[in-house]
Amino acid sequence: MPPAPSTVIELRGALLNWYDAHARDLPWRRDTDPYRVWVSEVMLQQTRVETVIPYYERWLARFPDAAALAEASEDQVLQAWAGLGYYRRARALHSGARILRERHGGVLPDDPDALRELPGVGSYTAGAIASIAFGRAEPAVDGNARRVLARLLDRAAPSAGALRELAARLVDAARPGEFNQALMELGATVCTPRAPRCGVCPVAAHCAARAAGTQEERPARKPRPAVPAFRFAAARVQDPDGRLLLVRRPEGGLLAGMWEFPQEPLADDESPIPAAARAASRVLGQETEVGAGAFLGDVAHTFSHRKETYRVVEFRI
Ligand code: ADE
Repeated sequence: MPPAPSTVIELRGALLNWYDAHARDLPWRRDTDPYRVWVSEVMLQQTRVETVIPYYERWLARFPDAAALAEASEDQVLQAWAGLGYYRRARALHSGARILRERHGGVLPDDPDALRELPGVGSYTAGAIASIAFGRAEPAVDGNARRVLARLLDRAAPSAGALRELAARLVDAARPGEFNQALMELGATVCTPRAPRCGVCPVAAHCAARAAGTQEERPARKPRPAVPAFRFAAARVQDPDGRLLLVRRPEGGLLAGMWEFPQEPLADDESPIPAAARAASRVLGQETEVGAGAFLGDVAHTFSHRKETYRVVEFRI
């Protein structure tokens, strides 16, 4: 059932008052420059606030506006992103900046439909930019807002459409950007997945899940699919000048175009030393002897959909 108009007004006011008192001081909240909002929202997709902050600051020092980003090379862009993960997002910002230069006079459009035409901008990000940077009363439902809204409605598996509809009804026309950030902030700091702090929640009186005592079960968690594991032998090859041998990954697929130690897949029962030697020789050619390798250790990295372990072998040439 949609909330009554009087409930909407109370809920809005309570949430915005709470936000005014409790909003974290985050670097992207200091101004509403559309380019900065865009960068922050793309960085925050799938990544925690604390992780994003130093990357955000460094990125803006290097690429202070969309024109500077459009001018940069792909290598410079990937280097500035290195370590933040989901590298497709860096390429999306880069090609988005070039699209803005070509089609929009170098600035972001204020219309959510036009924003959604930029690579990497879905309905959440378009709504966030339109509301935060341009003051448009658009909903923006990220994972945190989704949880808050599902609990307000006491729904286990609400559709994205139903939540957007509720968010569109609730968003404050006078302060839409702050309202949307308040909803996310509440989800991040109070209405947390486990042990939500309903005692300090400004909208607890309007929360159907709280009334029913089901808040911990809303929305229902989807079982996470098990991620498959893969092993690789990786060769750390160093020459007498201390230079390390790196190769570039292919242009498509995982970590496209990024640099890595020569590596090859490793079976469970296979020794990493000969496999790493083969991977190194493939890059160096037959003339360069890699010599005897020494096992250095394992490095594990979990992607969203797979886990990889690199068994690293050191060679001196
Ligand atoms: N997550 C996504 N956008 C955010 C924002 N503007 N502030 C805090 N967390 C966010």
